[in-house]
Amino acid sequence: MILSARKINVILGGNSIVQNVDFRVHQGDLVGILGPSGSGKSTLLRALAGFRPAQKGKVVFQGRDLYEEFDQLKRSIGFVPQDDVVPLALKVERALGYTAELRLSDFSKEEKKGRVDGVIRTLGLAKSRKQRVSDLSGGQRKRVSVAMELIARPTLLFADEPTSGLDPALERSLMETLRKLADGGRAVVVTTHIMSSLDLLDAVCVLDAGKLCYFGPVDGMKEFFEVEDFVNIYDSLQRGSAQSWRQKFDRSGLRKDYLGG
Ligand SMILES: Nc1ncnc2c1ncn2[C@@H]1O[C@H](COP(=O)(O)OP(=O)(O)OP(=O)(O)O)[C@@H](O)[C@H]1O
Ligand SMILES: [Mg+2]
Repeated sequence: MILSARKINVILGGNSIVQNVDFRVHQGDLVGILGPSGSGKSTLLRALAGFRPAQKGKVVFQGRDLYEEFDQLKRSIGFVPQDDVVPLALKVERALGYTAELRLSDFSKEEKKGRVDGVIRTLGLAKSRKQRVSDLSGGQRKRVSVAMELIARPTLLFADEPTSGLDPALERSLMETLRKLADGGRAVVVTTHIMSSLDLLDAVCVLDAGKLCYFGPVDGMKEFFEVEDFVNIYDSLQRGSAQSWRQKFDRSGLRKDYLGG
């Protein structure tokens, strides 16, 4: 197991935004966090990644306490935020070069160049490498965002809505790229509120109103939420309270099977 989180609670502005959420990621996994807008997906992601620690709860990353040892462990964790932070004025290879300078300061020039070339290949950015980031399409810019985080070869990559604003073909191709990254021995956790590309996920976490309503395999979701089609899961969430779904999840065998009880 790469990451295991227990009873994550985040309070912001006096409100309980994430409540008692458990989470697990194994090597090779692509895990999705799904839920309506405002359900706490980004907040949970930041807490799992250690960038904004939870007030209560514990995250264990590769057997070590993530919050206590964040300074040593953060190198192994990549985080692509919901809003791009790619420097717009730079050419793609320059932007990636700077990231290599910052993150891999003890590497040789050749090693850094090798890493830049590698992420350009992995993300299919070869044709855009001389273009300014400001001139790229939304999809290409997202790829640069992900590429920046891959420079340091993180064991675990978090990406917050990496496919937002992309057309269905680009969305699919970015999700397939993340699938390949996971298959290559890393682990990837993505948030999304769209129901496509579910087939690529190893596990899904469904949040509603900050509560964990489901954690488990994709193919168990329809039965759990009593729907014929994935797109109707949000209707189901609205029909019942988040609390009632959480209780259903807690009573199901899924919690034991996928979160260890
Ligand atoms: N700093 C903050 N102070 C107070 N409330 C906050 C703060 N940040 C987020 N929230 C609230 O927490 C809730 C969850 O926000 P979050 O961004 O985690 O949702 P989300 O599921 O990622 O939504 P989206 O799908 O729109 O990205 C929202 O109601 C939001 O208003
Ligand atoms: Mg969000």
